Amino acid sequence: DKGNHRHFMLKEIYEQPTVVGQTLGSYLDPLAETVTVPGLCFDPKALSRITLIACGTSYYAAMIAQYWLEHYAKIPVTVDIASEFRYRQPVMTRGGLSLFISQSGETADTLAALRHCKAEGQITATIVNVAQSTMAREADMVFPTHAGPEIGVASTKAFTCQLAVLAALSIAFGVARGHIDQTEQAALVRVLNEIPSRMSEALQAEQQVASHAADLSRARDVLYLGRGADYPLALEGALKLKEISYIHAEGYAAGEIKHGPIALIDPNVPVIVIAPKGPLFEKTISNMEEVIARGGKVILMSCKEGIASQGRTAGNSIEMPAVHPLASPLVYAIPVQLLAYHTAVLKGTDVDQPRNLAKSVTVE
Ligand code: M6R
Repeated sequence: DKGNHRHFMLKEIYEQPTVVGQTLGSYLDPLAETVTVPGLCFDPKALSRITLIACGTSYYAAMIAQYWLEHYAKIPVTVDIASEFRYRQPVMTRGGLSLFISQSGETADTLAALRHCKAEGQITATIVNVAQSTMAREADMVFPTHAGPEIGVASTKAFTCQLAVLAALSIAFGVARGHIDQTEQAALVRVLNEIPSRMSEALQAEQQVASHAADLSRARDVLYLGRGADYPLALEGALKLKEISYIHAEGYAAGEIKHGPIALIDPNVPVIVIAPKGPLFEKTISNMEEVIARGGKVILMSCKEGIASQGRTAGNSIEMPAVHPLASPLVYAIPVQLLAYHTAVLKGTDVDQPRNLAKSVTVE
């Protein structure tokens, strides 16, 4: 049932504050201001490495988690696409955790990688949205997301719920490994707790986001730029647009465009710059200026202060609430999803069932 919404995708975008709140709720104790992982079957202190493996949007969630796990838990992290990981000869160390991320829990490549890692003696865990799935049955440990059934082929709420679990795990492992003290833990729990409200505020920008869809719908190519944990979000933005609007789009690490992609810039290529105010803001803005200097048409996603500092207006920006860097990929996922959605609606594509795609990819 789509409720009052025209598509399942839009309904699922709007469910995010609720389902992310539910997912975080299974890890956070807001009163004690602590993060706890129920039933953990390994000691985070003893982990030599975490290998994150997934496909598609779930792979981008894994890429974002790499920044968090390195920063907060100081664990060496490897991230790979399941179909690549499985068919090379990855060197796995003793005491390694292999973590498989999947909405469906049935993706053939991810499942094959899980079976391989298990046979190699790794500890296996999975973040899945379907509790009765094959991956949930076969892994040593399951971290469920509580997104509820996701019908739209383009993943939205499953992605942000995966991020919610990964953020909670990163903090919990950081505490267990002695890198986060009680005060810092309390502060981070408050950040996580506020994410659902910040996501609700982000949803209020829907009309502003929609006002940019006409420009995008006329484009042949679109670029998305971001830095740090918002770089994988740029990749996710490009994937979302490709999947449902059939417009060619690419995501790049903002610092990388001068190494080639800047040659693509002209007034017909919209460039979406994801630049929350934070430690990487100035660097991202200097990359944005390189694009503007070459005639690029930029849409800046930032907070009020970030947008004002660049003298930009509603016509060439999308305003988000001010957020802590840990929260930004979850909050900025919303305008990224809405931009793809409204562009696809203008193009008249089948948003919930895009051509050539299936919800669950069960062939390798
Ligand atoms: O069920 P999974 O999370 O394992 O699926 C992985 C990908 O097939 C999936 O994320 C795909 O890329 C989506 N269509 C993205 O919107």
